[in-house]
Amino acid sequence: MCGIFGYSGNKDTNDLVFNGLKRLEYRGYDSWGIAVLDENKIHQYKDIGLVQQNPDLKKLPKSKVGIGHTRWATHGGVTKTNAHPHISTTKDFTLVQNGMVENFDTLKKELKEEGYKFKSQTDTEVIVKMVERELKKGVSLKKALMIAFKKLEGRNTVALLDAKSDKIYAIKNGSPLVIGVAKDGIYLASDSLSFSPHTKKIIVLDDYDMVEIDGKDYVIENIKDGKKKKPEVKTLKYQYEDIDKGKYPHFMLKEIVEQQKTILYATDYSEKELEPLVKQIKKSRKVYLLGAGTAGFAAGQIAYFLRTIANVDAMEIKSYEFKSYLPVISPKDLIIAISQSGETADTIEPLEILKEKGCKIASIVNMYGTTISRMSDYEYYTNAGPEICVASTKVFTAQSAWGYLLSMTLAGKYRTAKGKLKKLTKSLDEIFTKKSFSYIKNKIGKTLVDKEHFFILGKGENAAIAYEGALKIKEISYKHVEGFSAGELKHGVIALIEKGTPVIGIIPSEEHKEDNKDLISGMEQVKARGALTIGIGAPEFADLEIFDYYISTPQINTLGSIANVIPFQLISYFLSVLLGNNIDKPRNLAKSVTVK
Ligand code: BG6
Repeated sequence: MCGIFGYSGNKDTNDLVFNGLKRLEYRGYDSWGIAVLDENKIHQYKDIGLVQQNPDLKKLPKSKVGIGHTRWATHGGVTKTNAHPHISTTKDFTLVQNGMVENFDTLKKELKEEGYKFKSQTDTEVIVKMVERELKKGVSLKKALMIAFKKLEGRNTVALLDAKSDKIYAIKNGSPLVIGVAKDGIYLASDSLSFSPHTKKIIVLDDYDMVEIDGKDYVIENIKDGKKKKPEVKTLKYQYEDIDKGKYPHFMLKEIVEQQKTILYATDYSEKELEPLVKQIKKSRKVYLLGAGTAGFAAGQIAYFLRTIANVDAMEIKSYEFKSYLPVISPKDLIIAISQSGETADTIEPLEILKEKGCKIASIVNMYGTTISRMSDYEYYTNAGPEICVASTKVFTAQSAWGYLLSMTLAGKYRTAKGKLKKLTKSLDEIFTKKSFSYIKNKIGKTLVDKEHFFILGKGENAAIAYEGALKIKEISYKHVEGFSAGELKHGVIALIEKGTPVIGIIPSEEHKEDNKDLISGMEQVKARGALTIGIGAPEFADLEIFDYYISTPQINTLGSIANVIPFQLISYFLSVLLGNNIDKPRNLAKSVTVK
């Protein structure tokens, strides 16, 4: 989704906004733009593609106030004209937006009938024209923006730069906006990570809050009830500062290797800290786990742990499919939300409705100061550090490991769990070696590079891993990969297997007798039909003839499932390196989807 950044103060705005946009780029990288003020005149620069320096940008005059935007296209193609900011006809103000105006067509039609002309195809320019229309009625710019914003349907945040007053006005509804309070000035952004090098003091706005920034001062009022507000300035306990690749060629590889640490960071909770949630789970009728994308599969993994380790009646729901469950969800049920960004609209919407219904909300989130955490009665963090690569890796294992610790604590095995998690992270040494990387890249990657369709089979503790593994490979290699529960093979999937079709089987240890038997026989059946077979899992099966390739993973009881996802992350990484794809910023995706 888009990223908004703004600054007003005594520092050089051009560089601040540029660097802020670089830190927001993972939210959308179709195009970007910056607008600054100099002697009450707006100067802006827009471009398509990644945020990068260039001579024309350098031509912008030095300024003390400005706004910027990174775009994930929703309305209108990837062009300079559709890039934000969108300036008014009289060039008195310019505006950026994050979100989608759901009544865009009606509003645009109205404006066209009144003679307004449009340069771009964006819903953002419609907001600009609506403000211009109100201004013609003689109201102030601030008032005009308020009136226009209240007519927008959908989750939107806008920031407007006013040339006449040198002020920034910004309003949010449903999509994120955070204010950063610093000695040198006032920052505003879609997430606090983008201004974290400058301040940890934040104000998180509520829906329909408007902030008016003038120099280093700011005023906040709610445009619905017209009340002025003095929200608390929170100091973030943690804040991620460095978002640097270090020695790695891509953030994805860095984040994959960081898992030996981040699995422990995410489970760095004392039994006492988990107790409030443990108590709530024990008195809840049922536990529903909500998430989208990778977080949806983490919800599946945690539900599996809660059922099989702690006998909790737990099930995962993909956030975007929650509606059909609403009739059966009762206020006695507990909702656990899973999210890296804490701002995914598909997950926020059900939480708003279920909270309304009286359900208790718990959450495990990676970013700080987010909407999902603020909605939660029990908020937990994965503390895995910033995850910049759009495809989620370390946060998936962090979320799943936290779920394992919670389940073991419910089962009265907190100490045991801490021991096993330590053992797991230590044993990952064997995966993060040059030899293992070379095998995955040069043996498996090179075998799969010309294949268009392949399948992943998992069962029981590895069912969600099969789905997540498939998603990882789809997201950045753009290959068509399906994850299945191995049980489905004979009921249809096997029809797709022909000579050379790659099939990856996730092989549990002998401890999981039934599942192990089903997987081995499943791989024998596809082998019999000429499939190219890859095994991932328990080392004791690596020499079986049915496998053309095998990646052994440490099997520490049910934690083997968490280890099993890492080879899929590495396959997707090395395959995409071989294909020359943009690893950290894959096409058409964004790190956090803040619109429906
Ligand atoms: C997608 C991201 O936009 O949203 C995925 O590309 C992510 O990586 C999914 O899993 C859900 O996001 P979140 O932030 O709620 O975990």
